[in-house]
Amino acid sequence: MPSTDSHGKEESVWVPAGTIEQIPVGQGRCVLTGARQIALFRLRSGEVYALDAVCPHRGGPLAEGLVGRETVICPLHAFKFSLRDGRGLDNDFSVKSYPVELRDGNLFVGFPAGDGPHTVADGGA
Ligand code: FES
Repeated sequence: MPSTDSHGKEESVWVPAGTIEQIPVGQGRCVLTGARQIALFRLRSGEVYALDAVCPHRGGPLAEGLVGRETVICPLHAFKFSLRDGRGLDNDFSVKSYPVELRDGNLFVGFPAGDGPHTVADGGA
């Protein structure tokens, strides 16, 4: 069962996901965080979003999609997803989204505790 903080919110496990410089402005990049492939998107506004890398429709590579202001369009069949919450905007699918933190140029993706990828740090239990 995921642990909670003193406010009752579910804690996150923060996993390193490379540096901000590895993601060209206005594009996405696929990174491996622990055992998961995550698509990171760096907007021209400076915001960075993280979604599961695989399109829930038929497995398209979302990191290679066309990035809009707060959307990504899957390169395979052009379904559009919100970068904020992974919701399908013109379809009934949705993709998992994750919080991202930028610390001294390094990116960290937050996974729910107990649901995170197996890393050396968490022992893979
Ligand atoms: S695989 Fe992404 S829209 Fe079909």
